[in-house]
Amino acid sequence: MTHIVAIAGSPADKSKSTELIDKVFRQLEQTGFTTKLISVRDISAQELIYGAAQDSQSLKTITGHIERAAGVVIATPVYKAAYSGALKAFLDLLPQKALAGKVILPIMTAGSDKHLLAIDYALKPVLSALGATQVLSGFFVSDQQAKRDQLGLLSLDGETEQRLDEQVGLLVSLVRLSVSQQAVEAEIY
Ligand SMILES: Cc1cc2nc3c(=O)[nH]c(=O)nc-3n(C[C@H](O)[C@H](O)[C@H](O)COP(=O)(O)O)c2cc1C
Repeated sequence: MTHIVAIAGSPADKSKSTELIDKVFRQLEQTGFTTKLISVRDISAQELIYGAAQDSQSLKTITGHIERAAGVVIATPVYKAAYSGALKAFLDLLPQKALAGKVILPIMTAGSDKHLLAIDYALKPVLSALGATQVLSGFFVSDQQAKRDQLGLLSLDGETEQRLDEQVGLLVSLVRLSVSQQAVEAEIY
């Protein structure tokens, strides 16, 4: 089965960007993918700040999940006009080309639309440095568009939900294409 992982870049315990991953995963699982959530909170603060040792078990488990994945969802809040510092510290621990050959769906939540282009100017260059070449345009949502209802559940307005569905649909199509291309190449060589 095709595996898709998500990296949750919010250090917050209750996080909108992480809850959006849950939403995306529900759709991906209905489509037949297996999923795995990885959070910056899965790595100790010590390892995040000072760098994890080569034999760190938590890092080995995480890189193993990423290696097996055909697609990667990366969700982060906008912090100070860019992605979270915790996400940067996490990405710095990954192997040099950890995202090569994977289809990437970037997701950003933000307080307002002021940093609407943060996916393009801040996140994408880092993804590219990690070897990603197939990066979707991504999903940016402000706190006005992603509100909590009375039960505390995250709800998106219709237009916003549709934008997310479109990106998930593209992720599914591109991952399927990439998996079938790799299968053909494996037969040829
Ligand atoms: C330290 C910090 C810095 C932030 N900086 C920005 C910012 O520069 N621009 C913005 O639009 N929102 C900013 N926000 C708001 C968050 O991006 C927003 O509330 C987001 O939805 C939080 O996502 P999360 O619940 O997944 O952590 C900031 C929030 C925090 C805590």
